[in-house]
Amino acid sequence: MDTFLPEHKRTIHCGLLRPDHICREVVLCGWVHRRRDHGGLVFVDLRDREGLVQVVINPEASPEAHAKADALRVEYVLSVRGVVRRRPAGTENANLPTGEVEVAASTLAILNESKPIPFSLEDDTDAAESVRLKYRYLDLRRPSIQAMFTARARLARSVREYFFENGFLEIETPVLTKSTPEGARDYLVPSRVNAGMFYALPQSPQLFKQILMVSGFDRYAQIVKCFRDEDLRADRQPEFTQIDVEMSFIDREDIFAMMEGLMSRVFRDVLGKGVETPIPRLSYREAMDRFGVDKPDTRFGLEITDYTDLLSDGSFRVFSEVASKGGVIRGITAPGLAESSRSEIAALEEVAKIGGAAGLASFKVTAEGLSSPLAKFFREEQLARLREKSLAKPGDLLLIVADGFDVACASLGRLRLHLGEKLGMIDPSLHHLLWVTEFPLLEWDKEEKRWGAMHHPFTAPLDEDLPLLDTDPGKVRAKAYDMVLNGSEIGGGSIRIHRKDVQSRMFQLLDIGPEAARLKFGFLLEALEFGAPPHGGIAFGLDRLAMIFSGAKSLRDVIAFPKTQKATCLMTDAPSAVDVKQLRELSIRVTAPEKK
Ligand code: AMO
Ligand code: AMP
Repeated sequence: MDTFLPEHKRTIHCGLLRPDHICREVVLCGWVHRRRDHGGLVFVDLRDREGLVQVVINPEASPEAHAKADALRVEYVLSVRGVVRRRPAGTENANLPTGEVEVAASTLAILNESKPIPFSLEDDTDAAESVRLKYRYLDLRRPSIQAMFTARARLARSVREYFFENGFLEIETPVLTKSTPEGARDYLVPSRVNAGMFYALPQSPQLFKQILMVSGFDRYAQIVKCFRDEDLRADRQPEFTQIDVEMSFIDREDIFAMMEGLMSRVFRDVLGKGVETPIPRLSYREAMDRFGVDKPDTRFGLEITDYTDLLSDGSFRVFSEVASKGGVIRGITAPGLAESSRSEIAALEEVAKIGGAAGLASFKVTAEGLSSPLAKFFREEQLARLREKSLAKPGDLLLIVADGFDVACASLGRLRLHLGEKLGMIDPSLHHLLWVTEFPLLEWDKEEKRWGAMHHPFTAPLDEDLPLLDTDPGKVRAKAYDMVLNGSEIGGGSIRIHRKDVQSRMFQLLDIGPEAARLKFGFLLEALEFGAPPHGGIAFGLDRLAMIFSGAKSLRDVIAFPKTQKATCLMTDAPSAVDVKQLRELSIRVTAPEKK
């Protein structure tokens, strides 16, 4: 092995070499990606974060370098000095940005060795994710993953520049804090100095950013870590990053305009493409009616149609009973699926059942009309109307669910996404942004039998719905909004309540007594009494944006050291048991059985 000397320092990255550099002497530093021995000539693909380039070691031209080349193995760390030259005609590699050139090595220093690696670092590596996460430092060397982090860093920079240019202050909020009411479980941190007491890690800086508005900072934006102990999915991590924003003396339109500017900026900087503004808006109700979800993927059609009035009066008991109980009968038209086999239709029914549906009725559309075992339950003219309303063509398949509104939406929303993917209706190169507005203020908690805040308890009701707070709280809409990108919720926020009387009424509805409110967030309530300006804000999921921009399938790909589905880190083995001494200092006794 060689000592790292000043002459070994890089002059340019491997991946940046182009024909412009021909005849230049360069020093490259990187890892051996591949090594090929062509009887005398040794070829090394040398890789760094910008990409890889072919290095040629010729025994005649540089005997000293060639003598070392024998020892080279994959992932050895090298410094190579040499001259850039054009590759001989016919040996260019059009798939590689550096494919027109190569570097003829004059000297070579082996700066470090590597054990044989546990999996290939090619972009299409077939290593199991658990192995990749255990050796995350190797996984992160893969060029496709490095590209995701380059894009993520560009995204974060673009966000900061935008907010800086628009007069926002980045102010840090505490990590050791009191529980914030975002609805998930808190991660708790025991206090040593205050035995028996706990801090909570913030689920978001919600209360602090509102207090910063009371303090008069006017425009705040922070890229900030948030922590939520909830069940994990591909688009959820226990520790994630928000682009957190709050503004004073504004209404919804100001937030929309400022955030549309942000999207235009990051789309330009990260993807090099524009955003059409204003970004389309859908009310929550319309999103649910047409797409069955509050975060619709609008890159394709397959919208939901309501048949409640049409199909409730037939002799099919399932439908008439659902309708008489206030439920709905709704469906989607699957293009070209009329010839589906019984088992294919059963598979679609299974998808609907995951969403809670009791079953899935189907009608095949033929040139003659509708064909289905259920057709006998309906009158001719009903079937004709059904066909007309569904806009179906011969060869299509009508899929219908009868159930309560929520279940019908959930199952048809799921089925729609399933069919969109199955039928290749989603163009992955598209980016569809959407605002979803006018969310319900409250949602009924069936288990606790009381109202809960749909967003959080500081979200303001729509002015025109204020009277309903007393008469029909379930109908009150909120000044809350989400931003949706390709069917993923990338951000959400609201205009806040800044008046004490409205806040008290809200707590009453939520069944949070004055004492409970004081204990939980008394500091915010008190602050709001000292001249709180009208204010509102939003937070975006930075990881989710990075994931969509990189075309990654999971948040784990765009987080350097992510947690697994079970909230563990396979590289560090966190969480782990701690010393009894540490626990004693914290006055904590663990009752869980010790894990082997
Ligand atoms: P909300 O809870 O909607 O709002 O969160 C804002 C955005 O953060 C992202 N996000 C997540 N990303 C990864 N993993 C998670 N577990 C996770 N949870 C949320 C989503 C989401 O849209 N304080 C409010 C914002 C406000 O009212 O201003 C809040 O946190 O992209
Ligand atoms: P059954 O009478 O339960 O055998 O159902 C007859 C057909 O109606 C089957 O294809 C079921 O999948 C379908 N079906 C049952 N319940 C529902 C429902 N709630 N909505 C739509 N279709 C249903």
